[in-house]
Amino acid sequence: MDQTRAPILDALADYRTRGRYGFTPPGHRQGRGVDERVRRVLGDAFRDDVLASGGLDDRRARGEYLSDAEKLMAEAVGAEMAFFSTCGSSLSVKAAMMAVAGGKDGGLILGRDSHKSIVAGLIFAGLQPRWVTPRWDTERHFSHPPSVDQIRDAWERHPDAAGALIVSPSPYGTCADIAGIAEVCHERGKPLIVDEAWGAHLPFHDDLPTWAMDAGADVCVVSVHKMGAGFEQGSVFHVQGDLVDYSRLSACADLLMTTSPNVLVYSAIDGWRRQMVQQGHDLLEAGLRLADRARTELARIPGIQVMEKELLGVEASHDLDRMQVLMDVFDTGATGYQAADWLREHRHLDLGLSDHRRIMATLSMADDDGTVDRLVEDVTAWREQLKDPQPHGIRLLAPEEIELETAMLPRDAFFGPVDTVPVAQAPGRIAAEQVTPYPPGIPVIMPGEVINEPVIEYLRTGIEAGMNVPDPADPELHTIRVVAK
Ligand SMILES: Cc1ncc(COP(=O)(O)O)c(C=O)c1O
Repeated sequence: MDQTRAPILDALADYRTRGRYGFTPPGHRQGRGVDERVRRVLGDAFRDDVLASGGLDDRRARGEYLSDAEKLMAEAVGAEMAFFSTCGSSLSVKAAMMAVAGGKDGGLILGRDSHKSIVAGLIFAGLQPRWVTPRWDTERHFSHPPSVDQIRDAWERHPDAAGALIVSPSPYGTCADIAGIAEVCHERGKPLIVDEAWGAHLPFHDDLPTWAMDAGADVCVVSVHKMGAGFEQGSVFHVQGDLVDYSRLSACADLLMTTSPNVLVYSAIDGWRRQMVQQGHDLLEAGLRLADRARTELARIPGIQVMEKELLGVEASHDLDRMQVLMDVFDTGATGYQAADWLREHRHLDLGLSDHRRIMATLSMADDDGTVDRLVEDVTAWREQLKDPQPHGIRLLAPEEIELETAMLPRDAFFGPVDTVPVAQAPGRIAAEQVTPYPPGIPVIMPGEVINEPVIEYLRTGIEAGMNVPDPADPELHTIRVVAK
């Protein structure tokens, strides 16, 4: 195929050139109706916001702009088929789960380090999770993706599961041995789904971790906005092989998606694919070099350990995306939350992730020497002003305390009758809601799990120390929703 084309972008340019007009949504009519005060802030953002079918393309999508762009994407990354979505990997991963396991009894094998959107998929589709506990680094309080042996063991325990799903890279940039895990799944004729929300760039440079399609996964979902250059919410599913029914996958996505997809999101994905085919290797090469420089310079700051080798190994992660610069600030005595808040307040700098002892800078191909200089200067400034930080007081968890028993189907726990109880009364009760420190977005408590006291203490003391827990009905966690007795 001609990878110099970008069919959706071209159609958008053509829409303008021809002076098309629609008595259709969107009602702002390419910005004509927009309040001046809105325009002053948003500029031209409305100009290209047009209806997808019956606007950009005709009412039956006969121009095939979207399907052409999807074929170009599939070819560019070596998948058999690609579908674009405008609701993030949050939607794509649910569609993949429904396509693989919906309506089947055996459940789905999943890493317990799953993102909250996967838990939402379990709730929507009524699936039984067959959890695999991630490997836990007790010294650093850090989890690593499940190993091949753990997935093999899960298949032995749950041979009727419909498939397996793993997250790789994790929000910390650590990766699973996808090839090994795919092989174990395929020995049983079962598909592997990879939530590769953080891996859209992986196909375009050999020094990045192996991307899921090359490693033999059957479906993977990526967020183009995270590590690529798409607008927020742009996501792509990639699929290959004969273990997943492509039509069913597309139908599941159709069940969940909007009927008004944002063509700006689509066209940015389309243009990004062309850019990556033409320049991706060089852009990522430069990005990786910058990330190396950032690691070296940040590691010189007293008390900051830039994590790399300690993340890799037989009992740790299989690989690492080095565009993710993870800094352990434990030796400074401060929490990652404090560092991130200080950097935002005093240096107007936001970081990709913070937790009780780490901060992470997510570099992208858009960074340059100037942005890396700023990162190093700002983190240095934070470190220099830091005096006698107070102990954080977070009650950290031991591995056996994190593993909560799943006593009910997440859907039944979520939709059934609930009680709202003070957290002190929650231990022993079955959770009816997710409780997720965000970022990284991995629920500590999921609907259907039996709550224990250490987990409540961890969350309660974590919130006091600055942890953000946005999803429960009471984000301060004075109360929690549990399954009614
Ligand atoms: C591992 C993982 N999966 C899925 C998602 C959801 O992606 P999106 O924000 O594109 O909906 C995220 C978001 O942070 C994530 O970290």
